[in-house]
Amino acid sequence: MDLFEYQARDLFEKHGVPVLGGVVAEEPSAAKAAAEQFGTPVVVVKAQVKTGGRGKAGGVKVAKSPEEAEQRAAEILGMDIKGHTVHRVMIAAGADIAEEYYFSLLLDRAERRYLAMCSKEGGMEIEQLAVERPEALARIAVDPNVGIDEPKAREIVEAAGFDAETGEKIVPVLQRLWDVYREEDATLVEVNPLVKTGDGEIVALDGKVTLDDNAEFRHEDHAALVDSRTEDPLEAKAKALDLNYVKLDGEVGIIGNGAGLVMSTLDVVAYAGEEHGVKPANFLDIGGGASAEVMANGLDVILGDDQVRAVFVNVFGGITACDAVADGIVGALAKLGDAATKPLVVRLDGNKVEEGRQILADADHPLVTLAETMDGGAATVAELAANGK
Ligand SMILES: Nc1ncnc2c1ncn2[C@@H]1O[C@H](COP(=O)(O)OP(=O)(O)OP(=O)(O)O)[C@@H](O)[C@H]1O
Ligand SMILES: [Mg+2]
Repeated sequence: MDLFEYQARDLFEKHGVPVLGGVVAEEPSAAKAAAEQFGTPVVVVKAQVKTGGRGKAGGVKVAKSPEEAEQRAAEILGMDIKGHTVHRVMIAAGADIAEEYYFSLLLDRAERRYLAMCSKEGGMEIEQLAVERPEALARIAVDPNVGIDEPKAREIVEAAGFDAETGEKIVPVLQRLWDVYREEDATLVEVNPLVKTGDGEIVALDGKVTLDDNAEFRHEDHAALVDSRTEDPLEAKAKALDLNYVKLDGEVGIIGNGAGLVMSTLDVVAYAGEEHGVKPANFLDIGGGASAEVMANGLDVILGDDQVRAVFVNVFGGITACDAVADGIVGALAKLGDAATKPLVVRLDGNKVEEGRQILADADHPLVTLAETMDGGAATVAELAANGK
């Protein structure tokens, strides 16, 4: 889950990373009140959207009075930044910026460790800097078992070329950012810009944090960070039903058991769909116990996707044998009744496959087509989806 800047700011503060005051407002009048509360001569009104480049898009504006903060907030609220509507702004205390730096820590899957990146030249153009002058962006590997301790923090600031005095001030800040990364189970912590103020203090002025959803179980407090307005409604529904579902941008609904099988089903459907101009609509793994209830829940979520034209159920019977899965499908269709309106192609294989096929053949449901093979099923479902478009 990606966090909003104001949420990242709060996590930074919790772990002792130096930040400035920041208050969220959903109305211009609340922005004015927040600016009054700070009492600094300058505040910055910042669009809260989960995308980069806000400043360039006009979503970060300086205001020199509470009245001006109200005006700027009125301009920014409701703005569209790269397809994201601005529902909130953060009113931040204005910083007296002497220099802008860059720091990030992220998961480097290929190398099985973390990667810290740091530059003396932060601000809004870091992607450009990385391409044009890669030598200005230090990249230092971080051992997950050690993290950013004091020697590692020194190594990072030295590689970035900071002078000794500034470097010494940044070292503890990097250690606190490591605390955020580790203790909150993040996969990304980025600060752009990390600034030095006129009186030589180091402050994180903008933060991007991505939390690892796989670690959600040990962070009850993270549930409060979910923004229902930006969450996909189908994914939210699937989550509530405890289903492993990811919405994709296509027409063929997919249900399978086991992540590996579902992934390869996506592949064969994408391949078969090329000819017909259709693509997989989702990933859905119903796991081992494909009961009627789980099957009904899965179908319900997939059929709730308006883009879906046909559904491919691809199940390999293991501990839960094909006859139980077939009962699940028949039960699910009965349970959904008139809500089930789109064609279903079912391919069963594995334990008790004959019994399973027999159950489906006997039920003779008008929406169900049986497929012998995975490739055959993919071709059939792609054609059905294309016809239904
Ligand atoms: N509190 C602040 N006080 C003074 N200047 C600020 C403050 N916050 C941001 N700025 C200035 O605005 C610039 C852009 O702000 P920020 O980094 O938050 O947004 P952005 O980089 O455009 O957005 P994103 O990081 O999403 O691409 C900063 O580089 C900094 O110069
Ligand atoms: Mg930024």
